[in-house]
Amino acid sequence: MTAAATAATVAPVRSSAGGNAASLPAMRVAGLEFRNPVVLASGTAGFGMELEDVVDLDAVGGICTKAVSIAPRTGNPALRVSEFAGGMINAIGLANPGLEAVKRDYLPWLPAHHPGTRVFVNVVGNSVDDFATVVEAIDGMPGIDGFELNVSCPNVKAGGLEFGADLQALAALVSAARTRTTRPVFVKLSPTLGTGVTDAARVAVDAGATGLTLVNTMPGLVIDTQARRPKISFGSGGISGPAVLPIGLLATWRVSRALPGVPLIGLGGVSTGDDAIQYLMAGASLVGVGTAALRDPRAPERIARQMRRWAEREGVNDLTTLIGTLQWPS
Ligand SMILES: Cc1cc2nc3c(=O)[nH]c(=O)nc-3n(C[C@H](O)[C@H](O)[C@H](O)COP(=O)(O)O)c2cc1C
Repeated sequence: MTAAATAATVAPVRSSAGGNAASLPAMRVAGLEFRNPVVLASGTAGFGMELEDVVDLDAVGGICTKAVSIAPRTGNPALRVSEFAGGMINAIGLANPGLEAVKRDYLPWLPAHHPGTRVFVNVVGNSVDDFATVVEAIDGMPGIDGFELNVSCPNVKAGGLEFGADLQALAALVSAARTRTTRPVFVKLSPTLGTGVTDAARVAVDAGATGLTLVNTMPGLVIDTQARRPKISFGSGGISGPAVLPIGLLATWRVSRALPGVPLIGLGGVSTGDDAIQYLMAGASLVGVGTAALRDPRAPERIARQMRRWAEREGVNDLTTLIGTLQWPS
């Protein structure tokens, strides 16, 4: 599928009717209706069921699940997460119960209990075949709306270079996944790609990606000065939260300019409705919330509510009209 073929997949469904956060204008993205543009970010919301008592899953548009790999992964040793002034550093190590357990014990829950909340399964692997195997095994499960491929992990069979930074491997991976499902496939790119993010995005879309998710965490290091050691056991980790907001926005803007009409999930550092509106203006159709929800489980519904208030204040009836409307200084 080319960029042109995916154009016009973003369309308003209905206009704002007031009420609670869930009554924000629904967004039609990649052929799917999201009750509002807020989606829970992968790795910060489990498979939904873990959050049942703390997050109103009917107040968000959707959820990107925790990464799913073929085999169970225990992840890195504790301490895996630490906060700092700009947000959080983590090295969870993509811990998950593995494909079979996820299919049996986790994925059926969300569609059964919150059928109006869209579900994208985040997929991770060490090889092209790993990704294709997970997508094929989950495709066809009821209530699974699409996939998000986490290509920020190393291609173990090809020297360990990150898939997203190796355009040939990226094309092979996306093509393989594409042949295993007819559902939307989003490719999640790393902020480390810099200006190269547009090349990676184009390669992914030409290989069949429906859309892109921008961005994953940013590699970083936080030091415990008393111990003279890294704060987390793995050493370095991924930075998320407010520190990455401007980085995610720039990546989203670059890709939306390069590939107009391709649906984007923008995320990184969103903790207020204003942050989320910035992502829409930069070109995203949906906005992910991760770290903010770890700090405050009510953040996603608050952000959706703040977006609605912003739209009412500004006289915007339809949030889709904001997508990509940033005016760049001439
Ligand atoms: C604890 C934690 C675990 C994460 N796990 C995953 C994951 O399994 N797969 C993935 O694609 N991204 C993962 N991410 C990245 C987030 O989905 C998101 O891209 C990033 O945190 C930026 O958004 P935020 O600033 O709103 O948290 C994780 C982030 C955090 C903080």
